[in-house]
Amino acid sequence: LIEVRDATVADAPQIARLLDQLGYPSTPREVTERLDYWSADPHGRVLLAIEPPDDVVGCLSLHAIPYLEKTGRWARIESLVVSERVRRSGVGTVLVRAAEAAARQWGCLAVEVTSNRDRLDAHSFYQRLGYIDRCQDSGRFLKDLP
Ligand SMILES: CC(C)(COP(=O)(O)OP(=O)(O)OC[C@H]1O[C@@H](n2cnc3c(N)ncnc32)[C@H](O)[C@@H]1OP(=O)(O)O)[C@@H](O)C(=O)NCCC(=O)NCCS
Repeated sequence: LIEVRDATVADAPQIARLLDQLGYPSTPREVTERLDYWSADPHGRVLLAIEPPDDVVGCLSLHAIPYLEKTGRWARIESLVVSERVRRSGVGTVLVRAAEAAARQWGCLAVEVTSNRDRLDAHSFYQRLGYIDRCQDSGRFLKDLP
């Protein structure tokens, strides 16, 4: 049975291993520093899927952004990865459902996730969970800041 809880600095080594699998090699020390600013943010959560007794098998980071043009906020899944060992066993679904519950608590009206066009598996996953590909509606403009 999978449980979901918020990450603590003690989880940094296990989170780092998952970020490697996502394609973002990170050291436990770097993850510790990042968790510092995540935990200081009242509209940010880093959720972990735990296989008892305390094995971290999935990680999802979520952030909420306020709207000005309407009342409420919207949430963004910033990262999501499930351990290769347990994929296709419902862990990702549990994490996304927990993220949606957290977003509702923040008064969010919608949840967004962006995902590289190469990640076809992830796209099937999000669509299965009710997420609609809205890329045709708007462009995505990004500028790296040196
Ligand atoms: C995408 C990811 C998070 C899904 O997590 P998961 O725990 O394996 O997903 P679930 O077991 O909850 O899958 C739920 C449903 O999504 C769909 N799905 C999940 N993985 C799929 C795949 N590889 N191919 C096709 N459909 C898939 C299926 O419909 C699945 O239901 P089913 O197993 O009953 O057919 C996981 O595969 C992963 O970590 N991938 C690598 C990292 C990544 O791409 N992250 C997203 C970046 S934006």
